[in-house]
Amino acid sequence: MAFLLSGWLAHAQEVKALYKNKDASIEERIEDLIPRMTLEEKVLQMNQWTYGKNANPNNIETAMKKVRPEIGSLIYRSTNPLFRNQIQKKAMEESRLGIPIIFGFDAIHGYKTVFPIPLAQACTWDVELVRRSCEVSARECWLSGVDWTFSPMIDVARDPRWGRVAEGYGEDSYANAAFAVAAVQGYQGDSLADKYTIAACLKHYVGYSLSEGGRDYHYSDVSGQTLWETFMPPYRAGVAAGAATLMSGFNDISGVPASANYYTLTEILKKRWGHDGFVVSDWGSVENLIAQGVAKDRKEAGFKSFMAGVEMDMVDDVYVENLPQLVEEGMVPMSSIDEAVRRILRVKFRLGLFDQPYVDDIPEKDRYLRPTDLALAEQIAAESMVLLKNENQLLPIQPTAKKLAIIGPMVMDSVNLMGSWEGMGEPRHVSTIYNGLQKEFGADTKLIYAKGCAFDGTDTLGFAEARKAAMEADMVLLFLGEQKKWSGENGSRSSIALPNIQEKLMEAIYETGKPIVLVLSNGRPLELLRLNELAGAILEIWQPGTMGGAAVAGILSGRINPSGKLSITFPRTVGQIPMYYNMRRPARWMGYYQDIDKEPMYWLGHGLSYTTYSYGELQLSARKINKDEKIRARIEVSNMGIRDGKEAVLWFISDPVASVSRPVKELKFFEKKHIDANGVQVYEFEIDPGRDLSFYDKNGVKHLESGRYLVQVQDEKVEFEIVD
Ligand code: NOJ
Repeated sequence: MAFLLSGWLAHAQEVKALYKNKDASIEERIEDLIPRMTLEEKVLQMNQWTYGKNANPNNIETAMKKVRPEIGSLIYRSTNPLFRNQIQKKAMEESRLGIPIIFGFDAIHGYKTVFPIPLAQACTWDVELVRRSCEVSARECWLSGVDWTFSPMIDVARDPRWGRVAEGYGEDSYANAAFAVAAVQGYQGDSLADKYTIAACLKHYVGYSLSEGGRDYHYSDVSGQTLWETFMPPYRAGVAAGAATLMSGFNDISGVPASANYYTLTEILKKRWGHDGFVVSDWGSVENLIAQGVAKDRKEAGFKSFMAGVEMDMVDDVYVENLPQLVEEGMVPMSSIDEAVRRILRVKFRLGLFDQPYVDDIPEKDRYLRPTDLALAEQIAAESMVLLKNENQLLPIQPTAKKLAIIGPMVMDSVNLMGSWEGMGEPRHVSTIYNGLQKEFGADTKLIYAKGCAFDGTDTLGFAEARKAAMEADMVLLFLGEQKKWSGENGSRSSIALPNIQEKLMEAIYETGKPIVLVLSNGRPLELLRLNELAGAILEIWQPGTMGGAAVAGILSGRINPSGKLSITFPRTVGQIPMYYNMRRPARWMGYYQDIDKEPMYWLGHGLSYTTYSYGELQLSARKINKDEKIRARIEVSNMGIRDGKEAVLWFISDPVASVSRPVKELKFFEKKHIDANGVQVYEFEIDPGRDLSFYDKNGVKHLESGRYLVQVQDEKVEFEIVD
């Protein structure tokens, strides 16, 4: 009888557990759950582990046995939702409290459907396209068992030697902020609890892209002024858009590593911005505090990182090993542990994981690479490609050109076109350039292929065949570029030129006298000093993803009118770095290098089209306003040609005199619209002084000063004044 009664009591308690009641509020559920947890259970929630280093079923099975059911998070590297559900079942049923695991993965620019690298996506200047790419990625992730992506990367990147420029939205702070918001909305949708939505992770908070000399993982020095003005705004925007999580960087920010930085992680993120989700460290960045010389051992590293505001420890097990003891010794208050766990649980509750811990298992063909998703991938790829040069309208290829030499190591490639962080993308799904061209040009155009050379090395044996192909053809399409591993994490390069062998191949072909269209696929701006002169036309296709080949062929044939504009400046040589459009005014403008032009090769915003646009007069609704009024700026853009096109208008503001020196000009708004052949579009930008004319000081306080300002579109500039 007594036994029966206690069984009944236990059952009643179970039924009553508020945290399991989906009608209770999230905060109530959290507060109910935390007191039930032991210290060990709490600390395990703060631990992230990796599961199945590859998708080999044997590894996965073995790894699964080792996964503790109480673990907080797993980096999930399988595409199989059933495996994920199996592990989740273990957490739900074999752990005492049944807390679900959150499964994370790096879907940086797509999952199976690979979209162009983010740097390229930014060249579309279309936030809606970026949002939709993230929405597709979220759906594919969700259906594979992934609840959380370590994306978007919003580190404003101004050093193209740094391999990770590929992963972010370029050199401008406003652009990174705008695309951060789009990405968060795309991943997270209206509600994280919905099917097909996943948690976003803003990374790498903060200043990682400043790694000295572009060397990955290195020290980054940043003044308070630049931190606030350039690097914080994308994070602030992403947090305001509701990003569930952030990742702390590997970098050392002016002496205080990003993963132990109380100021950025707690003072600003949690206290000032009110972020109530959690921060995950980067891979081993807690333990890295030892290497960075601010912790003597793993225990101290864990202490520093945790106390600074990193709630989850990615893979290095420092927290599980040390936090219990640190609590027992009174070094770490239990209230801080509870607060960290609260934040992690909050994200899990928001994702609906407690109520719906499992994902659907639907056939792969309905999960991935659906025709509509591929069409979107092709559109984004096409709109991200930038026509850098087009002398004598060499492009699009005239229908009279019936023999095309297609040369270069990129032609048959299906691996590098995906770029770094290709998610679960597979080469067999990639539309190669060769296939794209074949399909585009059909049987009545002869494609004469020669590889010419490898991506790197010294072997020139293929040059003769390439020259022969060129001689036979009406024109040459030369496809050069970078391998995917040359950018991305730990993919920095000291030179941003193409390897000498590729440059030599181009020289050899140039000698044939045939017109050359140079098509470049790369994960960073390249030094084009020598090649620019040899090419009649240059098309930058970046690393365009699954549908790259189809998109590039469409542009070359003229089926698609290019509309991409650079999201990052191409320096003329590596020695010009840093070179970005919104530098501050120098004391004397002549202070440039003696041996080279002062301009870069191509500025941010550069990009040609097959039609021409004529910009009308820039008009303002007022020339003098006070600080709480607004001005409407307006410009008409006419398509002067016979082709429809899309034109992105970039609006800049400059503040010629201020209490702190200001950049030459700053992007404040952009918009892309379709313009019919011979048609006109009106573009408008409402200037809100508080938002668009103010600037941060070194403490992150915004100031709006009265005085003269200029609004600028292309070369059109109009002055206006803010009065007190
Ligand atoms: C290290 C990278 O820096 C980060 O961007 C990534 O999300 C994690 N590894 C997880 O793979």
